[in-house]
Amino acid sequence: MKNCTIAPLGEEHILEIARLEAVCFSSPRPEEALRAELANDTAVFFTALCEGAVAGYAGMHCILDECDIDNIAVFPAYRRQGIAGALLDALEDYARAHGASFLTLEVRVSNMPAIRLYRGKGYQEVGARPNYYNKPREDALLLTKYL
Ligand SMILES: CC(C)(COP(=O)(O)OP(=O)(O)OC[C@H]1O[C@@H](n2cnc3c(N)ncnc32)[C@H](O)[C@@H]1OP(=O)(O)O)[C@@H](O)C(=O)NCCC(=O)NCCS
Repeated sequence: MKNCTIAPLGEEHILEIARLEAVCFSSPRPEEALRAELANDTAVFFTALCEGAVAGYAGMHCILDECDIDNIAVFPAYRRQGIAGALLDALEDYARAHGASFLTLEVRVSNMPAIRLYRGKGYQEVGARPNYYNKPREDALLLTKYL
């Protein structure tokens, strides 16, 4: 996280985050869908900026006392520096400050980097969702962290 900061997602980050989505996912979220989050009252999105450049992003939706983490991604060149961990901390701090009682998320069963990241932050497996993902079809693990 040297020379990196966490900031709220803004319009000026959208193009770069659409590029990040395309680098990281087989079904990337398009630019318009990302832009729509800026106007969504339940959405909380942060970006990690390293010397001004977008290095990663993460977002969730909070309804009542539940926050559902949508996504987290870091450009390959910036991985293993604690950026995803810092983004998760920012989401958790927001959730706690706004009275949420738990955070929840889905992850591909084969995604060991992400599963290790979440376990390291205290998320626990509470179930599975068969065939939750496409491209390739795969089950999801459902993880939860109580605040
Ligand atoms: C998963 C991802 C977000 C992690 O980002 P990151 O900034 O590299 O993660 P961090 O540096 O904060 O890592 C924190 C911990 O997670 C675990 N971890 C992260 N990447 C790992 C890897 N490739 N292999 C094993 N453990 C890993 C480690 O425990 C790590 O701590 P350590 O570096 O002290 O060992 C990143 O690999 C990524 O963007 N992947 C593609 C998108 C994706 O799969 N997102 C998750 C969707 S649910």
